[in-house]
Amino acid sequence: MLVFILGAFVATAYYLEVRVRDRALEVRVAAVSKLVEQKLDKDTNLMHAVLRTMMRNQVIEAAFAKLDRGALQREVGPLFETLRTDHRITHLYFNGPDLVNVLRLHSPGQFGDLINRDTTTKAREQGVAAHGLELGPLGTLTLRLVVPWHRDGALLGYLEIGEEIGSLVDEIHESLSIDLLVMVDKDRMLPQQWQHGQSLFKRQGNWDRFGTHALVAQTISHIPDALNETVLQGLHAGGSAVVADRDRVLHLAMLPLTDTSGQRIGSFVVMLDISVLQKTFQTTVLGTTLLSLIIGAGTLGLFYFALDRVERDYQRQHDLEHQLLRLGTEHQRILQIEKLSALGTMVGEIAHQLNNPLVGVVNLAQLAVREADDPVRTRELLREIRRAGADCHALIQSMLRFSKVSSFESKPTSMAEVMEETVLMFRQTESRQLPVETRLPKEAVVLTVDPILIRHALFNLLMNAAQATSDEGAIVIGLDFEPNPDDGAPGWLLSVTDHGKGIAPEILDKIFVPFFTTRSDGTGLGLPVVQHVALLHGGYVSAGNQSGGGTRFAIWLPQEPKLPRQNEPDSLNYVA
Ligand SMILES: Nc1ncnc2c1ncn2[C@@H]1O[C@H](COP(=O)(O)OP(=O)(O)O)[C@@H](O)[C@H]1O
Ligand SMILES: [Mg+2]
Repeated sequence: MLVFILGAFVATAYYLEVRVRDRALEVRVAAVSKLVEQKLDKDTNLMHAVLRTMMRNQVIEAAFAKLDRGALQREVGPLFETLRTDHRITHLYFNGPDLVNVLRLHSPGQFGDLINRDTTTKAREQGVAAHGLELGPLGTLTLRLVVPWHRDGALLGYLEIGEEIGSLVDEIHESLSIDLLVMVDKDRMLPQQWQHGQSLFKRQGNWDRFGTHALVAQTISHIPDALNETVLQGLHAGGSAVVADRDRVLHLAMLPLTDTSGQRIGSFVVMLDISVLQKTFQTTVLGTTLLSLIIGAGTLGLFYFALDRVERDYQRQHDLEHQLLRLGTEHQRILQIEKLSALGTMVGEIAHQLNNPLVGVVNLAQLAVREADDPVRTRELLREIRRAGADCHALIQSMLRFSKVSSFESKPTSMAEVMEETVLMFRQTESRQLPVETRLPKEAVVLTVDPILIRHALFNLLMNAAQATSDEGAIVIGLDFEPNPDDGAPGWLLSVTDHGKGIAPEILDKIFVPFFTTRSDGTGLGLPVVQHVALLHGGYVSAGNQSGGGTRFAIWLPQEPKLPRQNEPDSLNYVA
């Protein structure tokens, strides 16, 4: 992704650089074209002013009228020198009315030839001033102005003034900060004449550098080696080119060079130095790429470390889950083993409980066989056998009752009614007629419970209380509002208090274990049943000794019925 973004960035930057560069060159080329025109106009005007001043001079006029070469040179010579040094005027001619040269100020030794270039012929034909760029036979590219000179309506001749292209390109070079090459088509000159012109005017032109063009003027000392004929062809076709030149990068374009008759005689090559732009572009791209790579690498590294940590955390969590799962399975197994061992204990207890009466039955039966002759003794033994059998029967019955606890049907039940019914039942069963006091709250309490189970549990508590009470101490059965001490849920405490012998502290944690009993005729199933019933109702059982002697057992029942917690009293269900 980063590489893609970087690629896109570099491509965009390059595209922008090319556009900026092309636009800059376009602007310069347009400026050059305009400046050349302006400069030609301005220089023509200047030259025109010079000529007009000269034409107003009586002495010069008289000398020209007499075609007096010596007088002309004397009069105009110093002026020409000033023009040459200060204004770069390179040519000044006096031509006769027939265009035959009278005097060349720049080359006084040469005269008498016919000058029939475009500007001169145009000036003669039209009778007015003519100007324009002209390529001389010696390879001189000059801006010329030819003005006809009349005196009193008669034509004296023609004045001609000119400046070479070199000064023009120098000025453009300075004002636009570009370099220029001026090239002329070789077809328009003869090499010998060109060479003659070069030596005559001490010019720096170059005939051989390019195949089709001769170099007339240039603003740089060194022509880039990369600028060859092929590049030139491309420029000629209207394109641009970028060439390297020593420590510079140049952007090139071409402008046509036309002479006064409108014919293309050569070209300007405009050269814009784009080294700074390229350098800026390269440093920007390089800097940004490097920075992006560093940031990218940093980010990737960071991600790598973060992901590594996440992965390690995940692995640790996975391991923990695995361990928990294993622990869970082990826990299940332990529970299973516990259940099995509880089952073993229970079977042992049952066997133990049944064994005593059965041993009695067997022994008594043996005795009865031996003493069969004595009917009185036999009858007595048989009675004993029946009692032992009845004990077994009672044990089996209580176990069956215990097993019935697992059926559970709750409904809104008046607690006062349940309590009164149980007390009634208890009175019928308990032979000693112990006083039972019932303490009910003022309001009617209706709870969603299974009345049969509650009655059963309450009955067990009453029986235990009675069994623990030796004297005439009263048993109190009460119902009090009490929130759950664990979560504060509203509920009711159904309690049975006696004034009996109390529970020894060392057995206090064993009394709810199935088959635990301290009574010779006990089954040890009473309190487990009570606890089971409490748990089925979402409550609990508490037991404790009273400070004044005796015990208090209480079943806490929630105000709002909860779903029966079938799983918790699981260990009590094994008989079912
Ligand atoms: N109200 C009580 N006062 C003193 N001890 C009690 C009382 N209730 C129960 N116990 C003790 O708890 C034991 C277990 O009681 P329980 O489960 O009902 O079996 P069981 O009545 O058959 O012995 C009793 O043997 C007795 O030692
Ligand atoms: Mg009991």
